Amino acid sequence: MNPDHQSLIDLANEARKRAYVPYSNYRVGAALRTKSGRLFTGVNVENAAYPTTMCAERVAVFKAVSEGEKDFEVIAVVTDNGGSPCGGCRQVLAEFGLDTIVLIANGEGKLVTQTTVSGLLPEAFTPKHLENR
Ligand code: THU
Repeated sequence: MNPDHQSLIDLANEARKRAYVPYSNYRVGAALRTKSGRLFTGVNVENAAYPTTMCAERVAVFKAVSEGEKDFEVIAVVTDNGGSPCGGCRQVLAEFGLDTIVLIANGEGKLVTQTTVSGLLPEAFTPKHLENR
């Protein structure tokens, strides 16, 4: 196990404690490392108007982008049961790079799956498809 990857999983698992999940009680934590070495965490933030809930992965990505970072190396996602990122989060990750490594881990901090954005979202629609128009 790559020690850098394990520490990113541990960071996501620690962030997970701060998930705001009064409705699902399903805590998700994410930790994103940029190519420049910066770290951004995210948690899911639910809402009484359910569809306005935001996933942990997107919180981490949006925090990074809003701080000027768009080149991602790796994102760790931790849930109790090693759940996989939702379709919306896959699409948002694809916007910023298909080669970003995705680490999916369980509540014990154990890696369940290591893949990439392109592994999670084959044949993704990306900014390339909108070039030159
Ligand atoms: N959730 C995430 O945070 N990330 C995902 O990729 C899947 C789902 C959250 C949304 C909601 O707060 C809870 O998990 C149950 O769907």
